[in-house]
Order: sequence, then structure tokens, then C-alpha cells
Amino acid sequence: MAIRFLRPPLPCIDDVMNHPKKTTTPRTFHVKSFGCQMNVYDGERMAEMLGAQGMVPAEEGVDADMVVLNTCHIREKAVDKVYSDIGRLRRDDGSRPMIAVAGCVAQAEGGEITRRTNMVDIVVGPQAYHRLPDLIDKAARGEEALDTDMPVLSKFGALPDRPKQPRPTAFLTVQEGCDKFCTYCVVPYTRGAEISRPWAAIIDEAKALIDGGVREISLLGQNVNAWRGEDATGKQQGLAGLIRALDKMEGLERIRYTTSHPNDMEDDLITAHGDVEKLMPYLHLPVQSGSDPILKAMNRSHSRDSYLRLLDRFRAARPDIALSGDFIVGFPGETDADFQDTMSLIRDVGYAYAFSFKYSPRPGTPAADMAHQITPEVMSARLQELQTQILADQLAFNQATVGKRTHILIEKPGRKPGQLVGKSPWLQSVHVYAENAAIGDLIEVDIVSAGPNSLAGEITARKEAA
Ligand code: 5AD
Ligand code: SF4
Repeated sequence: MAIRFLRPPLPCIDDVMNHPKKTTTPRTFHVKSFGCQMNVYDGERMAEMLGAQGMVPAEEGVDADMVVLNTCHIREKAVDKVYSDIGRLRRDDGSRPMIAVAGCVAQAEGGEITRRTNMVDIVVGPQAYHRLPDLIDKAARGEEALDTDMPVLSKFGALPDRPKQPRPTAFLTVQEGCDKFCTYCVVPYTRGAEISRPWAAIIDEAKALIDGGVREISLLGQNVNAWRGEDATGKQQGLAGLIRALDKMEGLERIRYTTSHPNDMEDDLITAHGDVEKLMPYLHLPVQSGSDPILKAMNRSHSRDSYLRLLDRFRAARPDIALSGDFIVGFPGETDADFQDTMSLIRDVGYAYAFSFKYSPRPGTPAADMAHQITPEVMSARLQELQTQILADQLAFNQATVGKRTHILIEKPGRKPGQLVGKSPWLQSVHVYAENAAIGDLIEVDIVSAGPNSLAGEITARKEAA
């Protein structure tokens, strides 16, 4: 099902460019993902599927025969950006790769994309990308290749098993879609209704990832804490049950999950933060605003107070938990007083990290038609004030870890020779010089200094030997 958003007719970009349909079968590919972690996961699965079909990833710097643009529609200019990205794929000699537009822009725009440009061969929504190989065949035959169906579970069932890839961390989507219908958000339209992947499929995928060397799994979902399912014995479980099952899996060292909704939070999950050792002390819980009237207009179905009380319960279960959130400034009707309520909530919570955005009217969502839209100047000023506060809190949180002894999971080499970068339990990047450590190692360090975006650590053993 394609969602039709109300918006003015767009000019056809082929008035200025004329690039006929691609008619050869591609051999090499490149998947470019934009937006959230779920898109990153989808992009990986698409690449794995194309690999299983015998296609090979294009080498760095070499033009691919086929490019998948895995798009995001959450904020403004997404559609314009996709068209300019498409235009940039034109080569100097006038030729171009086969082009697939995937992700949420594909879902929202559907056939409008191929009406507007003939540079695109394939349009495939986020719930239909398991059919990409068929769509490629169709496109190679010069036929229309559009699929914006939403059969979520069959998508997962139809994807090939995850190949063994040595890497320390991996995403694992367990839940998709959203039934919350916040009045500003396109996700319920582009990703569809809330749906949970079955227990066994998740456990199998986790096993495959761990067998390949993954030591940290981040469970993903638009509302990941809405995940529900039956375990192997037929017992109903929520996200905490799933986390407890992963906790028992040998080789796995760390578990994270994102993104949660305050209204789907169950006692179990809070308790798990206190007694599941592998569950990292980090919670991303978007609030969007600190003002009750704005939360109501956003249809968030929680209040400022209920949100704060929820955080208190997490802190009681795990006192060192790092808190993170999402904020929107300039929602229609937001007064200075409403905005100051958001600022005071931020000061009350003391976030370790946060994502903040100017409100972006999304065509077809209720908020786009609300009265009292806020001017860009006011939004910019509010965003700047909010981000200054968040950055100060982030620095304070990081500085409070100086002097702590903790473990980091090494993820990649640093920029300087001999330097490695790992993540702390609180998701901070930690730079360390560790000759005997390798990517994937979990090493003990002392945190010796902190900036707003990263920390420096020293290996405990080395320091003691000195
Ligand atoms: N405008 C600005 N930010 C938005 N988000 C979602 N929709 C919009 C919008 N229309 C933000 C919310 C959400 C995050 C993923 O993106 O903060 O939590
Ligand atoms: Fe969008 Fe609200 Fe659903 Fe989050 S909970 S995906 S903001 S509708």
C-alpha cells in the first residue's frame, strides 16, 4: 500500500535530464542508507541478500552497476534530497547505474518517483525489500519495478540467513512499525502497524551473529519495548524476557535496545536493568517536549510528570544509568513558556546524550495543518538554546566518569597510530592506546579525561605495571 501525502504537484526533473531505463543486469552494487539505525539494519540485510544472489559490493571509489538509496522521510527536504542524490549518480559520459529508491521515501512517494524522473528503475518500500532480486530482474527487462506492499513478517522469513561477518557489534531488528500516531510523525504511515518478529527468529539471528564474532547486540524497533511474543515453551514474553534469553547466550557480552516509548514500558524491563549484567546502563527514551499542552497536541499520551517518574524508577533500578532523549522544538503553538518547560525538564533530567530537531511539517500528518506554526527564526533560537544546555550536560556526564574503572568494547582503530576506539557501558566513545588489544576485545580501562564527545582511557594493567 502506498501512502498518498497531500502536496503540490512537483516538476518533472526529466524536463532537464533525459536518461532512459537501464536494461542490463547489474553485477556490482552499493547500498547507501540514510536516517535511523533501523535503516542501517535494512541496508545491511539488502546488501547481504544481493550478495547471496551472486552480486558483489562495488569497490571503494568505483562506480557500482546498481545503487540502492535507502531513504529516510522523517524530516523536511527528504524528498528533494533524494532527487538531488539521484541526479548526482549520472556519470560524466551520460550513463548511470541501475537505481533503486528504497526506504521510507519510497513508501511515501510510491509511483510518483518514476513519474517524476526516469532515472529510477526500482521503487521498493521498507517492508518489501526482500523482493529486490525480482525487482532487479524486472528492471533489467525494462519493466516497471515498484513494490510498496507491507507484508512485514514474510519479509524477514524471505531474507537469507545472516552471513558470518567478523565484527564486534550488530543491530537486530525485533519490532517494526508504530501505532502511536504522534501528530507530527510519518512513521506509522511509512513503516506500518506495530509488529513483533517471532521469538525463534530473533534467537536464531542472534546465534548467527554471535557465531560470527558479534559481542554486542542492539535490539531495534520503532517501539522496541512494545515487542511481545511467545517463547519456546509457549509463554508470553515482553522485551525483558527476550533480553534475559540473550543474556544466557555464551559469547555475547553486551545487550542494548532502542527506541522505547514511555507508554510501553513494563516493570520487567526496569527490573532487568538492575539484575541483567549484560544489559548496558543506557536508556534512550524520547520525550519530545516538557510541556503538557504540547505533549497533548503531539498525541504523546504521556505527561511531563509520568515521564519523569518513569526515569526515577530506572534510576532506582540502575543508579548509574545514562539517559538519552529526543526533542522537537517549535511544534505548532509552542509558546516561550512551553519551550521553557522543555528546558526545565532537560535541566531536571541531566541527559547524557540527546537528539534535538526543529519541528518539520510532514505532509499528510495532522500537525502539518495545525494553526500557529512557529517561524524558522524562533525555532532556530530555541534549538540553539536547547542544544547549548544538552552539550553542557553531556560534558558534565562525561566528566563524571573520569576516575572510573570500567570495560570498553573495542570497535575500530583510532586516527592516531596505535590508538583504538571502544565504547563504554554508557555508550561513550573511549580512545585508548593498547598494543595488545584488538577489535572485538573487551578491555578494562581507567577513564583519565573527558570532552563533550569522547573520553580518553588507559589500560588498567599497564598503569598498574608502571
Ligand atoms: N519534525 C521534527 N522531528 C521529528 N521527529 C519525528 N518526526 C519529526 C518531525 N516531523 C523526531 C522525533 C523522533 C525522532 C526519531 O525524530 O524526535 O523521536
Ligand atoms: Fe513517530 Fe510517535 Fe511512533 Fe515515535 S512513537 S515512531 S515519534 S509516531
